[in-house]
Amino acid sequence: MIGHPSTEQPGIRSLATTSAAETQAVAIALAGLVRAGDLLVLCGDLGAGKTAFVQGFGRALGVTAPITSPTFTLANRYHGEELTVHHLDVYRLAHIDEVRDLGLHELVDDWSVTVIEWGDAIAGALPGGYLEVRLTLGDGPDDRVVGLRTVGVEWSDREVALLALEPAATDGDPDGTDTAC
Ligand SMILES: Nc1ncnc2c1ncn2[C@@H]1O[C@H](COP(=O)(O)OP(=O)(O)O)[C@@H](O)[C@H]1O
Ligand SMILES: [Mg+2]
Repeated sequence: MIGHPSTEQPGIRSLATTSAAETQAVAIALAGLVRAGDLLVLCGDLGAGKTAFVQGFGRALGVTAPITSPTFTLANRYHGEELTVHHLDVYRLAHIDEVRDLGLHELVDDWSVTVIEWGDAIAGALPGGYLEVRLTLGDGPDDRVVGLRTVGVEWSDREVALLALEPAATDGDPDGTDTAC
């Protein structure tokens, strides 16, 4: 990958989860706040749960196709009920110039929401503001902390909603948490 951001601002919210389903419950709640044209940047180590998060997020937006890791394809597109979901993983980009080939400015349009795994590595090349979702490993094997931070104006008017965010109720069904990284 091509690098990490040099500074880390404090986030506005952290939610502890103890299973993939709980992380997906956060994703489902966040899906209730998204608008066409939104950008989400997912960060965290390999295996932190970025793809698992997108699986919950996409399902909440009505994606019925299985959401798989785009580590090798770089970008996948899914049709949700109202929005198209672009799911990118830029881990394998070797050089910042390759970001141009992703056509991010074209992807982030009025019909879609774009989610980029490892997007913090290309923060300077992103087309606008975004919600950063940072997954941090906790003490136990299934413990994670989901940190939320808004960057730019696009999400700043939703900070109050983010502060009040309640993870969706889950039935504990782990369907769709299998990922291939
Ligand atoms: N609290 C949790 N949140 C997210 N994933 C979790 C959690 N606990 C266990 N997992 C598991 O960790 C793995 C995360 O893999 P994945 O989503 O592919 O990570 P990444 O995309 O960040 O590399 C999955 O097998 C998932 O079921
Ligand atoms: Mg992944």
